[in-house]
Amino acid sequence: MNTITVKRNDKPIYNIEFSQSYDIIKEKLEDAGINGRKVCVVSDSNVSKIYYEEVKRCIESLGASLCISFVFEAGEDNKTTVTIFSIIERLIAGHFDRNDFLFALGGGVTGDMTGFAAAIYLRGIKFYQLPTSLLAMVDSSIGGKTGVDFNGYKNMVGSFHMPSGVFINTSSLNSLPEREYISGYAEIIKHAVIADKNYFQYLNNNNAGALSKDNAVVKDIIYKSCKIKQAVVENDPTEKGIRAFLNFGHTIGHAIEKYMDFSLLHGECVSLGIIAAAYISHSRNLISLEDYEAIRKLVKAYRLPLCFADIEQYTAKSADIGNNMDEILSIIKSDKKADGAVIKFVLIDSVGNAVIDTTVTDEEIIKAINELGGFHE
Ligand SMILES: NC(=O)c1ccc[n+]([C@@H]2O[C@H](COP(=O)([O-])OP(=O)(O)OC[C@H]3O[C@@H](n4cnc5c(N)ncnc54)[C@H](O)[C@@H]3O)[C@@H](O)[C@H]2O)c1
Repeated sequence: MNTITVKRNDKPIYNIEFSQSYDIIKEKLEDAGINGRKVCVVSDSNVSKIYYEEVKRCIESLGASLCISFVFEAGEDNKTTVTIFSIIERLIAGHFDRNDFLFALGGGVTGDMTGFAAAIYLRGIKFYQLPTSLLAMVDSSIGGKTGVDFNGYKNMVGSFHMPSGVFINTSSLNSLPEREYISGYAEIIKHAVIADKNYFQYLNNNNAGALSKDNAVVKDIIYKSCKIKQAVVENDPTEKGIRAFLNFGHTIGHAIEKYMDFSLLHGECVSLGIIAAAYISHSRNLISLEDYEAIRKLVKAYRLPLCFADIEQYTAKSADIGNNMDEILSIIKSDKKADGAVIKFVLIDSVGNAVIDTTVTDEEIIKAINELGGFHE
């Protein structure tokens, strides 16, 4: 229960290690070739000041000849090519070569950028993921998708570049702001809804422990989610097929995220997108009213938004979304996941089983968004 090995074509490519401190790096990377090499730890302005010194000590104990940090101002706004070029300038100035290393210490923004810098510097160097947000632990640190936003388009520039290892230190969640922590549960609920009915039940039974950050429960949940993500990325490493299941809740979720000018957290939008996709699944009789209600209940139990009224405290734009359906539809159609004119929608035909559907109509999307505007429990 402390290690997951991610494979490709049955060959192990990297391990996800679970622990409650960064000391595990010393043990697990003893033979990783860091002795005598340079390391740059990329981190954002919030995370760096809490964890960099601890990580640096571990890296230095492995015999690294140099350990430097690259710190950027926290936030999605800085997930840009500009920051990537600054990282690269830093590596050039430090004479990093192909055998040196990057470490991503932070949330998904840090992981995506560090991975991308590692993918393109000298045509590819090794990097390790040290995810510190719940979202990064269960989602972005696994699977090798790296990249940055470009001209207002999310993740428009990037590449697949696998990490050499992922170190999940669950105790780092203690400093994660509450809203960020809750937001991470949207991807976790998504995993259960698309892939595992028992896990769905487990989340139902353990919401109190999860929300109070009971370490045994949180570790269990992260582990179970990582197993689901592992199975999906192993089967479809470059998103040609079933990896698209992970987009459940993201078609409408992303559109809401963009429409709200990124004033909401990703997980909050995914949560609304999950409700919308479950609603469409129910209105097509793919799932029962009971299952639809069970999904709503779970989302609510994790204090995630069920409807626009739940997010109005964060953005005034939630009030007028009903009058701007054309804009939402046009955002959905310009999304990367729309394949030409066809929108690849992920629905469920039971709790725990996802299906891809390319026949969801504009009317169904509008009805689902109206549903988000109508309820407030
Ligand atoms: N590559 C993938 O497969 C994949 C999958 C999902 C999401 N993503 C990307 O992930 C990003 C979102 O990730 P995120 O939600 O982690 O955002 P983030 O990296 O911006 O982190 C969220 C906030 O929490 C702070 N933070 C993180 N860990 C902390 C800790 N332990 N203590 C204190 N503060 C902490 C950060 O400084 C930041 O302010 C998006 O850019 C999204 O596109 C990528």
